[in-house]
Amino acid sequence: MALHKRSWAEPFKIKMVELLKMTTPAQRQKAIKDAGYNTFLLKSEDVYIDLLTDSGTSAMSDQQWSGLMLGDEAYAGSKNFYNLERAVKKYYGYTYLIPTHQGRGAENILSQVMIKKGDIVPGNMYFTTTRLHQELAGGTFVDVIIDEAHDSENLFPFKGNVDLNKVEALIKKYGAKKIPYICVAVTVNLAGGQPVSMENLKQLRLLTNKHNIKIMLDMTRIAENAYFIQQHEKGYAKKSIAAIVKEICSYTDGATFSGKKDALVNIGGFLAVNDKHIYEEASNLVVVYEGLHTYGGLAGRDMEAMAIGIAESVQDEHMKARIGQVKYLGDKMLETGIPIVLPVGGHGIFIDAKRFLPHIKQEQFPAQVLAAELYVDSGVRTMERGIVSAGRNAKTGDHYYPKLELVRLTIPRRVYTQAHMDVIAESVEHVYENRKKIKGLKMIYEPKYLRFFQARFQKL
Ligand code: F0G
Repeated sequence: MALHKRSWAEPFKIKMVELLKMTTPAQRQKAIKDAGYNTFLLKSEDVYIDLLTDSGTSAMSDQQWSGLMLGDEAYAGSKNFYNLERAVKKYYGYTYLIPTHQGRGAENILSQVMIKKGDIVPGNMYFTTTRLHQELAGGTFVDVIIDEAHDSENLFPFKGNVDLNKVEALIKKYGAKKIPYICVAVTVNLAGGQPVSMENLKQLRLLTNKHNIKIMLDMTRIAENAYFIQQHEKGYAKKSIAAIVKEICSYTDGATFSGKKDALVNIGGFLAVNDKHIYEEASNLVVVYEGLHTYGGLAGRDMEAMAIGIAESVQDEHMKARIGQVKYLGDKMLETGIPIVLPVGGHGIFIDAKRFLPHIKQEQFPAQVLAAELYVDSGVRTMERGIVSAGRNAKTGDHYYPKLELVRLTIPRRVYTQAHMDVIAESVEHVYENRKKIKGLKMIYEPKYLRFFQARFQKL
């Protein structure tokens, strides 16, 4: 019989393993109660499969580990800085590099350098830390993502796209001078890891050039975005991920980057720009918050591992297996009718908690309680991405009520196997079967900034 099916598989083998502690449901009940029903407050050793985030949780390659041994721990001008600078130029094309300890360090510097009080900063959906830094710098974030992004059932393949009409309307209303830059995230995390198309970026570049507005990329998951362009956008099927990544950057003026995602490192990030003046201002500010401009809060060894990780992240085989694994889990969930965000995005599966738990009102935190229930069922740790993550409007004090109330099952890169994916899907199915018994939560402690990290809850 002829073999027609060809499965994807990882382009690596496993050299070292980390043993995990197995727990009982009773132990997990106690652990989540002690953690105030917030998965961020669980101890990692009490977690079996950790899908809290894909940030800093990747497995590094043997090449990256050997790179750690090549750390040049000089205070200034470390060899590893120049290796990283070369990698950023080669793969992304940006002229000036400022390393930072992670993505939000770069967001802080960029926001402080470019945003003045009263400015408007459009973006394709908010990200928690990005928006907060824009607000702390005196700006107001305005969402300009296409409407499709807010609909978890819409199948449009580029739900991360910027709505150019919304941008034009903002320019008309406030004037281009009030808009220091547009922040474009590739892919869009809170929309479910949804990509932006190249055509959309090209059109945005034309529009912003007309008004002299800069485009700053949040390029945290750019290689994943490039994979979707390769698979779904006309004219890109034969282009490499590396070529697509570089083309994306070519339509922008600079970027903030969390190396903890695509670049396969446990810590690291940077700000990269083409404008010398912005670079000079930023490299002056970085010494206040992060460290000298040739290390920015990182050890030399961290910069070396990130330089190597950037090269590995744009390999076609790597990305095919990465997204292939995420899609495998998504397909399993669809088989059992679990309501998830479609199309399946780059870094995880997002369960639609509003459809999973329609009997729980948004102000009783359906996604937060669903994450807690999944943990109790199987020791799988996930994250709320709904009303808790959205926070409050600083002016009115009200909750933001995001349309999307999601639980994110984020897949670390090169860490878990297909059997782990099966266990996860079975656990979600089990909780789904018993969903009617689940009740909402009450918030009993709320921190002022980025409350989702440390808020505590009680069962209603
Ligand atoms: N931008 C995006 C799109 C992100 O997803 C993150 C981090 C950041 C910026 C900030 O980078 O963590 O290195 O300071 N996202 C993590 C997550 C925390 O779990 O999604 P950072």
